[in-house]
Parts: sequence; structure tokens; C-alpha cells
Amino acid sequence: MWTRRIRCSAVAIMTVFTVVGCGGAAGHHGHGGGHGHGHGGHGDQGFKSPEEWAQRFDDPARAEWQKPEAVVRHLELSSNSTVAEIGAGTGYWVVRIAPEVPVGKVYAVDIEPSMVEYTTKRAATLGFKNVEGVVGAPDDPKLPAAVDVLLLVDTYHHIADRTAYFQRLRAKIAAGGRLVIVDYKVDPAIPGPPQEMRLTPDAVVGELEDAGFHLKTRSEGALPRQYILIFTAG
Ligand SMILES: C[S@@+](CC[C@H](N)C(=O)[O-])C[C@H]1O[C@@H](n2cnc3c(N)ncnc32)[C@H](O)[C@@H]1O
Repeated sequence: MWTRRIRCSAVAIMTVFTVVGCGGAAGHHGHGGGHGHGHGGHGDQGFKSPEEWAQRFDDPARAEWQKPEAVVRHLELSSNSTVAEIGAGTGYWVVRIAPEVPVGKVYAVDIEPSMVEYTTKRAATLGFKNVEGVVGAPDDPKLPAAVDVLLLVDTYHHIADRTAYFQRLRAKIAAGGRLVIVDYKVDPAIPGPPQEMRLTPDAVVGELEDAGFHLKTRSEGALPRQYILIFTAG
């Protein structure tokens, strides 16, 4: 049950979304760990309160449709892999990936400093020493080093000028590395971001091929709400 405070906070978030014209219907945002949009022109204004977003992103009910173990298996990690999640939010994925790469590294990248702070504290509290927070810019994740796996979950569609962005990012993927995109299917029956913000897998593949990536694996059946696309950078 939501407390009164959380309920009020959620209403405040909805109000912000309505004002910035990025949706706001309960069906778009009240979907247990799924999503939120406050991004006027892709400069996200709506992810400034990690404690409130954690109610949604880290809702235990998310596991039912998010199937985090299955997603992490798709990453094909080794104990020494270096991983970056762009748009790490409250660290839902970071705390699941960190124990899989005990002698590797996880960069938790977000354009929202409060999200980065929240995730790095969360990882430290759990005892993970291999997590580093990175405050990115909307057009540059500012990765300190090349990575084996670059992951974006429910974040790809927030990025502006994607072809140019990912063209630049290719240099930050180590030899043999992969780019993994998990994002919402275009289907009004599937809760999540507003339909007009979603991208079909074909659209994502087209953009990333234009940026120089090659599709390796395409999965539209592993998860009920999202597709998983895996690319190589070579
Ligand atoms: C819907 S949340 C997803 C959070 C997390 N990936 C998850 O699955 O729980 C999207 C996140 O992407 C961040 N974001 C939006 N645009 C970004 C950009 N250009 N670079 C990095 N992060 C971005 C937002 O601040 C937000 O924390």
C-alpha cells in the first residue's frame, strides 16, 4: 500500500509530466517499475527525485515482467567484464550486474546527478566496490574508459540525435564488445511510456546500423513488454 506521502509525491510527478506535455496518463506512468517521462526535448526534467522514482523502478512487482535474470544472461558477462549502463536511474541493473563482474567494473551513467549519487550509495551499501558513478551529458555519457558491454534499458528513446551519439560511442566499446538495447514494444496494450515515444525494433536497428553497429541478436519474445537488441560495434 502506498503511504499518503508517496501517493502525494506520485501525484506531483504526474502533474509535472502533464505540464511539460510528456504524457501523464496513469496508464503511461503507473506501471510498477516501468518508466517515466519528463523529457521536454530529451533534456530530462523528470528524473530528479530518485527516492520517488525508486518506488516505481525498484518495485518488486517489476521482476514479473522485467525478468532481470534473463536480461542479465543476455549480457554474457565474464567475471572481469567492464559494463556501462547509460541511464542507470536508481541502479536497478547496476546492483544486479555488479556481483556478476567481481573483478570487472560497472559504470553507472546518468545525466541526473541525484540518480548517480543514489545508485553509487546503493551499491556501496551493498558492499560493491566495482561500481563507479558517472554524470553524463545529454550528448555524451563521458565514459572514462572503453567497455565490453554498453547497456541501455528504457533509455534509448530518451536520447536525442541518436545516430551521432552512438557513432561517437563506438570508440568506447572494446574489441569484441556489445551494445545492448532493451526498450518498450510499440503496443498500446503494453503499459509503459507513451506510444508516440516508443521505437520499433526496426527503427532502432536502422538508426544503429547508420551509426556503424551490426545487429547480432534480436529478441522480441524473451520479455513480455520489451525487446532486446544486441549489436557489435565492428
Ligand atoms: C526510465 S529511466 C530507466 C532507469 C533504469 N535503466 C531502469 O531500467 O530502471 C531513464 C533514465 O535515463 C536517464 N537519461 C535520460 N537521458 C539520458 C542521457 N542522454 N544520458 C544518460 N542518461 C539519460 C534519466 O535521467 C533516467 O534516470
